[in-house]
This record gives sequence, structure tokens and C-alpha cells, in this order.
Amino acid sequence: MKEFKNKVAVITGAANGFGVEMAKECVARDMKVVLADIDSENLKKVEADMKAKGAEVLSVEMDVSKFEDVEILAKKTLETFGSVDLLFNNAGVVVAGPTWELPLNDWDWIMGVNVYGMIYGLKVFIPIMLKQDTPCHIVNVASVAGLLTTPSMAAYHTTKFANVGLTESVNYQLQAMNSKIKMSLFCPGFVQTDLHNCDRHRPERFAINRDEPYYESVSYKQGLERGKHVITTGIPVDSIGQSIFIAIEEEQFYILTHPQYAPVIGGRVRNMLEGVNPSVAMFKK
Ligand SMILES: NC(=O)c1ccc[n+]([C@@H]2O[C@H](COP(=O)([O-])OP(=O)(O)OC[C@H]3O[C@@H](n4cnc5c(N)ncnc54)[C@H](O)[C@@H]3O)[C@@H](O)[C@H]2O)c1
Repeated sequence: MKEFKNKVAVITGAANGFGVEMAKECVARDMKVVLADIDSENLKKVEADMKAKGAEVLSVEMDVSKFEDVEILAKKTLETFGSVDLLFNNAGVVVAGPTWELPLNDWDWIMGVNVYGMIYGLKVFIPIMLKQDTPCHIVNVASVAGLLTTPSMAAYHTTKFANVGLTESVNYQLQAMNSKIKMSLFCPGFVQTDLHNCDRHRPERFAINRDEPYYESVSYKQGLERGKHVITTGIPVDSIGQSIFIAIEEEQFYILTHPQYAPVIGGRVRNMLEGVNPSVAMFKK
């Protein structure tokens, strides 16, 4: 996709972090922007900021883990702007902690948002884009956590590996059809956003049950602390939007942000091919 003026972008998770940066870049290119998020308070603020700059913006409060909400998002987009040209499947959450301690509720939440949210986005918007038969682009936000593994975030890795496999496969399928829809897979390392505070974005049905001892446990509290540390010491978020748009213009599939992880990603693949067992010792270096 090379032409952006007057084209329509839909961004999930648009009320904080990456989503806001993506929206700013869209507005800078005179696109019409649909901001979708569960965080109604921030959503209204971002919408007001964009409108104050003269942008054509629609905001939709919704939950990506509900298929019917994604359908409504598409309906409102088409009613308001008539098409969808660029989709950012960006909304996401994180949970940390040992798999055998993590309440199933946390698994349901993270799978619902990070995995089903992306599936629903593709299921609802790809048919619209195919029908349009115009140049379109989809950016799926995974993470470097979908390309390498660490000991402390099994649930997050599970969802981000799913995002990688899903995006690569759908991309092949669209290519095989000679579709005009191009895809990019965004796999950043740690970036300063609001991700470590994502418990506040839990839909009611995944709310923390305070009677559940896990939420008083050392594992839970350490997970929160670690999350806060890695996100607040990440790279600044304002570098993100431009690198994504360069990738869209150049039809670049993989978008990575942290070159220092390349040896770890390569080492993981080499271990597999050479039959070397993964060792936790590498995290103690
Ligand atoms: N920040 C990082 O270091 C980092 C690194 C790799 C990948 N990511 C990924 O980037 C994406 C964006 O995260 P971020 O870092 O900007 O975090 P963020 O918390 O700042 O923004 C995420 C947005 O998603 C929204 N959201 C959460 N649940 C939702 C739901 N059910 N429905 C609709 N919206 C929902 C939140 O309200 C929030 O506005 C996520 O997929 C995350 O996994 C982030």
C-alpha cells in the first residue's frame, strides 16, 4: 500500500501505547481513522486529540475478544467511511506466572484478547477487503515473544507464537490467491507503553476474583513487578509508528525493533536443527 490519503484505517487497542502511535501516523497521512478499544476513557481523549488536529475519526468502544463486537466495529466503519484499507490487529494484554499456578481465567482472558481477537479481526475484515479488491494492508501485532521463549511468561509466549503462525499462514494463503491484501507481522521487543497496567483492561467476564489465592501470591506480585520493569525500561514508543509505515509502504512482512534479540532467535532455531536441548542457563548469563 503506497497511497494513504483519504483511505480508512481501523486500529484495535487504539487508546494507549502502540495504537495511539499508529493513529498519529495515519492522521499525518490524511487517513480516516477508526479507533477501537475497551478503554472508553482514554479512547475519548485520543479521539478528541485527533479531532482537534482536524482528523476524521470514529471511535468505537468494543472488546476484541467478542466476535459480535468485531462485527459491529466493521459495520460502523463501513457505515461511516464506506471502506477499510488498513487494519491494525493490535489490542493485547499480558499475564506472567507459572502455568500450573495461573488461574484458568487468566488463560481465557489472554487467549481471548491476543489470539481470538486477532482471529476475529481477520475473519471479519478479510472478506470485506477481498470484496473491495483494492490495495489493502493488515498489520498483526505479535511480539519478539512469538519468536523466542523465556521462563516467566508461558501464557504470553503461547499467544504470541499463535499470532506468528496465524499471520504467516494467512499471508501465504492471500499470496496464493494473488490477493491485493498484504500483511506485516510486528514483533517488537520491550517498548514503553501501558502494557504492564493491562489488568485494568479486563472485561467483566475475566475480572480478577479476589478470593483466588493466586492474586495474593509471590508469583503474581513478581510477575507484575517484572512486567513494570521491562516495559518502563523499554525503548521509547514514539519510534514505533514510522517503522511500521515504512514496512507497509515497502511491503515488508517481518517488522523487528530490537536487533539484540537476533542471536537469541537464531540460536533457538539452530538448537532445533542441531538437536541441542534448550537450557535455562542462557538466562543466567
Ligand atoms: N509494549 C511492549 O513492550 C510490547 C512488546 C511486544 C508486543 N507488544 C504488543 O503490542 C500490542 C499493544 O500493546 P501496548 O504495548 O501498546 O500496550 P497498551 O496497554 O499501552 O495498549 C493496549 C491497548 O489494548 C487495549 N485492549 C486491551 N484489551 C482489549 C480488548 N479486550 N478489546 C479492545 N481493546 C483492548 C487496551 O485498552 C489498550 O488501549 C499488544 O498486542 C502487545 O502484546 C507490546
